[in-house]
Parts: sequence; structure tokens; C-alpha cells
Amino acid sequence: MSKTLLVYYSLTGLNETIAKKIHDEYKIDLFNIESEVNYPKSMYPCWEVVRHWRGVNAIPNHGEPLPNMNNLPGGIKNKLPDISNYENIIIGGPVWGWTLSDPIMSYLTQTNLSNKNIKAYWTCVDTDYNYENDLKEMLPESSNYIKGLKIDSSIYGNSHKLNETLDKLIRS
Ligand SMILES: Cc1cc2nc3c(=O)[nH]c(=O)nc-3n(C[C@H](O)[C@H](O)[C@H](O)COP(=O)(O)O)c2cc1C
Repeated sequence: MSKTLLVYYSLTGLNETIAKKIHDEYKIDLFNIESEVNYPKSMYPCWEVVRHWRGVNAIPNHGEPLPNMNNLPGGIKNKLPDISNYENIIIGGPVWGWTLSDPIMSYLTQTNLSNKNIKAYWTCVDTDYNYENDLKEMLPESSNYIKGLKIDSSIYGNSHKLNETLDKLIRS
């Protein structure tokens, strides 16, 4: 069994495509988070759902504190994988309101990543201001955060750059 598991969430398919590419090229196991919440697939209606439970305004702030995770509007529909045999976990997902998407927040509240090596990537149009800090804050102190990479439209729109970025992440 591979020692690396990629845990990802995708609302509109980009992270799904990237995860499958990583699986095909690096033979890394996948876990696709399925949310109990039926989020609207277009950005602004979805953001309306998300910003209300987070208690933020239409435009989030730099350094906004993490929301109260007890208010998450739903959990994860599918059974979480047993990660005891994985040394390395990669977390891939979209940026929602400058930070992590709700389903990735749910995953991080429900799983114990102590003593795991963690890498991450996150996709966005362009702005990811709070993402990496928030991710690190949600990880247990005993996890080993190795590297995180932003994948914005200048990267995912260019297959050569995307390959280069993923290679940098996986081989780091
Ligand atoms: C609720 C919501 C909030 C978003 N907030 C941001 C953001 O803060 N910055 C940004 O560049 N893109 C933002 N986006 C765009 C997403 O990051 C983009 O749609 C996503 O990376 C696509 O991945 P997916 O197809 O796997 O869901 C947002 C999208 C949604 C649905």
C-alpha cells in the first residue's frame, strides 16, 4: 500500500481532476470528501451559505479568526478512511472566502493527523490570503507540516505549469 494518502474535496471538478492526475501519475491513494451539504455550485450563492455560518461579511478580512467549527452546516457523508498505515497525508481543496472550504474544515475537525507528515495544495482564482495560516492552525502540533502550494488560475490553466507544481509538491 502506498504510504501517502491524498484527501481532497471538489465542488466544481477542478480538485477532482487534479486528484485523479496525482493518483495516475504518482500512484497515490485518494479519499474524496463528500459533504452532507448540497452547496450551490456557483460561487456567490455558495458564498452566501458559507459566510453566514462563519459570521463574516461579504468580503472576508485578512487574518479573520477561524470560525467556530461547531457551526459547520454539515459533516462528511462518506466513511473516513483509516489513516493508520499512511505516513504522509496530502490535503487538496478549493479556497473559499480566502481560507479553507467547509468540507476540508470538517475533515480536519474529525480526523487525527498527529504524527503525520502533511503537504497541501489549494486551488483558487487568485486570492488565498488566510489559507495556509488557517490550515496550519487546524493541524495538531505533533503533525509535521512540510509544504503547501497555491494553485491559481495562472497554474491550472497551463498544463506544463500544473505538472511542474504538482511535481514540486509530491517530491518535496
Ligand atoms: C464559496 C466560494 C468561495 C470562494 N472564494 C474564493 C477566494 O476567496 N479566492 C479565490 O481566488 N477563489 C475563490 N473561490 C473560487 C474557488 O477557489 C474555485 O472555484 C475552486 O478552486 C475550484 O475548485 P473545485 O472545482 O475543485 O471546487 C470561491 C469559490 C466558492 C464556491
